[in-house]
Amino acid sequence: MKRFVYKLPTELFEIFAVELNGYGFEILERNEKETIFAIYVEESEEQALKDAVNEIFKDLGAGELLKEELIPEENWTDKWKEDIKPIEVSPFIILPEWEIYEGDKLIPIKIRIGMAFGTGLHATTQMVLKLLPKYISKGDTVLDVGTGTGILAIASAKLGASKVKGIDIDETAVEECKVNCWENEEENIECVKAIPKDIKEKFDIVLANLEMKIFRETFKDIIRLFNKYLIISGIFKHTEKEEILKMAKDSNLKVVDELSKPEDEEKPNDIWFAFVLKYDDD
Ligand SMILES: C[S@@+](CC[C@H](N)C(=O)[O-])C[C@H]1O[C@@H](n2cnc3c(N)ncnc32)[C@H](O)[C@@H]1O
Repeated sequence: MKRFVYKLPTELFEIFAVELNGYGFEILERNEKETIFAIYVEESEEQALKDAVNEIFKDLGAGELLKEELIPEENWTDKWKEDIKPIEVSPFIILPEWEIYEGDKLIPIKIRIGMAFGTGLHATTQMVLKLLPKYISKGDTVLDVGTGTGILAIASAKLGASKVKGIDIDETAVEECKVNCWENEEENIECVKAIPKDIKEKFDIVLANLEMKIFRETFKDIIRLFNKYLIISGIFKHTEKEEILKMAKDSNLKVVDELSKPEDEEKPNDIWFAFVLKYDDD
């Protein structure tokens, strides 16, 4: 087994991790500027890893190999797993698929580590997980726009939704959504490759953790799809907040709840917002 230690600017690490699918990472050091991480591979996979990493570093215009070393055979296969810990976002706990939740206070959601967005680590996902239990009722139908790993769709099913549809523009995300529904033994979730415009039926609740750029393109299509509440997330900084709230007001929607979370404690202006919206007819 070999261990390769690399360095990358932190802002590029997530892109790198998504591009380099299928390998386990161990984060050794992480600060605002740079991330130092290790990748473990068998010697037979060494060249494939080197080629893949070099190509991504070339595309990113950054990245450096710090060292490569042979490591003893012991328990290397599970080494990278030590770095991936359960994340508690009450009332949920998000676990990698190999973990078992022994407690009974939180609702476990298992997520297989893959390429799709939605491991539960990001502020935008966490805010929807916090808002959802307040607004969903048992038996509600739910549409999750931009489902990624399916994390929000699975959370909805676990809270008693009668029917859940997760849609994503990306085929890989749809496949990962299906795998994660299976891991969570949730059979009432349909993961489909679609955009909001393709959807014809209405749902009690619509969830949409997207980017502002996507909201600009799809907001009108999304708001015709819900009866009770629309929960949106992925709104970054005050300028985007003002823009989306104007779009909501112009569509006769009012804000019934709001959460915010900074991207980084040291940058209070780099803040993410999530909103619960409903039609302003009462
Ligand atoms: C920020 S991720 C959210 C993932 C997950 N729902 C979560 O909350 O962690 C946004 C997802 O929206 C998908 N997406 C982007 N544009 C879309 C569109 N027009 N229609 C459907 N899905 C879209 C992306 O492929 C990505 O998986």
